Amino acid sequence: MNSSSHAFPTLGILGGGQLGRMTAMAAIRMGLHVRFLAPKPAGPMQGLGENIVADWTDPEVLRRFAEGCAAITVESEWAPADRLTEVLPQGVALWPALETLRLIRDKGVQKKTLADAGLPLPDFTLCPTLDAARAAAASYGYPVLLKKYRGSYDGYGNITVQDEDDLKAGWEELADDDGLLVEAFVPFVRELAVLVARRPDGAHVVYPVSYTEQRDHRCHAVVVPADIRPEVEQEARRVGLAAVEAVGGVGLTAVELFELEDGRVLVNELAPRPHNTGHYSIEGCYTSQFENHVRAVLGWPLGDPGLREPVSVMVNILGHREGEAEPRGLTDALAIAGVAVHLYGKSEVRSNRKMGHVTAGGADPAEVRRRAEEAAGFIHL
Ligand SMILES: Nc1ncnc2c1ncn2[C@@H]1O[C@H](COP(=O)(O)OP(=O)(O)O)[C@@H](O)[C@H]1O
Ligand SMILES: [Mg+2]
Repeated sequence: MNSSSHAFPTLGILGGGQLGRMTAMAAIRMGLHVRFLAPKPAGPMQGLGENIVADWTDPEVLRRFAEGCAAITVESEWAPADRLTEVLPQGVALWPALETLRLIRDKGVQKKTLADAGLPLPDFTLCPTLDAARAAAASYGYPVLLKKYRGSYDGYGNITVQDEDDLKAGWEELADDDGLLVEAFVPFVRELAVLVARRPDGAHVVYPVSYTEQRDHRCHAVVVPADIRPEVEQEARRVGLAAVEAVGGVGLTAVELFELEDGRVLVNELAPRPHNTGHYSIEGCYTSQFENHVRAVLGWPLGDPGLREPVSVMVNILGHREGEAEPRGLTDALAIAGVAVHLYGKSEVRSNRKMGHVTAGGADPAEVRRRAEEAAGFIHL
């Protein structure tokens, strides 16, 4: 019997990192087979389903990977979904659709799409030249953000500039042939996120609004539910769902938001995949973002996104050095009651690399936060 003839469906995952890992774990729990394709051996996918390590831009490799899958999903907007689409066998679905990825992966195209759909956004201008950037910055007033259109994550690809000299230096550092996005600085009170799981037929569930605390442009902690007024919660959910519908998101789509002093909510950006702000949902919700992603791409009934306990807090575990990862501090973290530790199986640690996370749940936000921080603080991979 070859691997493509299982009675249970096979889910293909393009990518081998932690998002694929946690998606696979949810899929395997429901009896699915999982097949990864990654360009180099990746620790997180190891020990889970079939691992194909090969040139993922090669049409023959992609065709073999896709053969026999019920659905394929991408772990990141940068995976070669375009190449895959060209060789996708009849009856094999790719979710999110290539069109959704195309609308999201270039920040300029994404902003225009959301603006055309009437969504509230920071002021922005697509600037092909430094002169255009100067004019945009002058009209918004400094500071402004310069953002690369493509390939950014964790703040790499953005610079906040304070004046014209800064702007020129930032432009020289970041600009591509088509220039940069210039965005007005938003004096937000909080960053929030909304996750939406949506099926090909449009059925969807929306997760509780989360508060995401950034340090150095990176997600440090996520607290759910966010401590916001009911009107803000409702507006965040409305804006989040409308943004996902505007790009035709299928599977899990994450919407990063800015909450303003006056209660308005602006869309910062979308991610067409499970997201760091939803990792808490593995223990925190009746159905995790990963499980609902799997259910959605297969067109299966979606699960309840509600919280199991009043409060859930996630804290990321980042690398603090370069070298081979070791489980230092793991047993100390595990000794704290009511904390779930997730390590992603990355054999190499690098400074600021996402190596794992911890989640704690309970009733008192400050106490839950303290437990999560304490456990995460013990672990030094
Ligand atoms: N217009 C803005 N005003 C103020 N802060 C911003 C703005 N845009 C981004 N940021 C800050 O920078 C972080 C990273 O920016 P983002 O556009 O989400 O890039 P990335 O692709 O790196 O996640 C945001 O989470 C937020 O903290
Ligand atoms: Mg972001």
